[in-house]
Amino acid sequence: MVIKNVSLETVCGITSPLPQNNMPEIAFAGKSNVGKSSLINSLVNRKALARTSSQPGKTQTINFYNVNEEMYFVDLPGYGYASVSKEVKEKWGVMIENYLHTSDMLKAVFLLIDIRHEPSANDINMYQWILANGYEPIIIATKLDKIKRSQIQKHVKMIRTGLNVVGGTKILPFSAQTKQGKDEILDLIEEITRS
Ligand code: GTP
Ligand code: MG
Repeated sequence: MVIKNVSLETVCGITSPLPQNNMPEIAFAGKSNVGKSSLINSLVNRKALARTSSQPGKTQTINFYNVNEEMYFVDLPGYGYASVSKEVKEKWGVMIENYLHTSDMLKAVFLLIDIRHEPSANDINMYQWILANGYEPIIIATKLDKIKRSQIQKHVKMIRTGLNVVGGTKILPFSAQTKQGKDEILDLIEEITRS
C-alpha cells in the first residue's frame, strides 16, 4: 500500500459523538505506552502526526486519521494507565467500548503487545473481545528492537501462549525504530480493507 496523503480528520473525547464514516476503519488497541501512536506514524511515514510520549496516557481521545481518502486508521487511548482516577479510566473504557461496538465501518482491530512482556489480563480480554465479535485477530508485537534477534521466537511464543491464541492468529513483530515489520502490516491492511 502506498501512502499518498494522510490527515487527522476527527478527534473524539468522552462526550463527543462518534463520526459516521463511510470508509473502512482499522483500529489500534493496546496498553498505554505499547506504541500505538508510533505504529501509526511509521505506517504513514510521518514522525509526529500522531502524538507520542515516553509517559503512558498520551492519547486520551479517539483519533481518526484519513489515509488516502480510502480508509481510516483509528488511534485509541491505551488501557491500564495507572495514573488516572478510576472514574476517568471507566469513562475511557466506556468510550473505547462504545466505539468498538457501534462502528459500522470497523474492519479490524490490531492488538498491540510489547514483545518483551507477558500479555496482561486486559490484553487477554481485548483478544477475546476481538474473537467474540468476529474480527480477524491480528497481534502486533511491538518494540522488536528492544530484544535480541535470537530471542524473537521465544517472545512470540510467550505471547502466543499467554493469549492462548486460536489457530490462524497472526503475530507480527514490529519496531517503530527500525521499521522492521512495517511492509507486512501495510500489506495486511490493504488485504483487509479490500475484502
Ligand atoms: P498511549 O497513547 O499512552 O496509549 O501510548 P501509545 O501506545 O500510543 O504509545 P506511543 O506510541 O506514544 O509510544 C510510547 C513510547 O514508546 C514512546 O516513547 C515511543 O517512542 C516508544 N516506542 C514506541 N514504539 C517503539 C519501538 O518500536 N521501539 C522503541 N524502542 N520504542 C518505541
Ligand atoms: Mg497513543
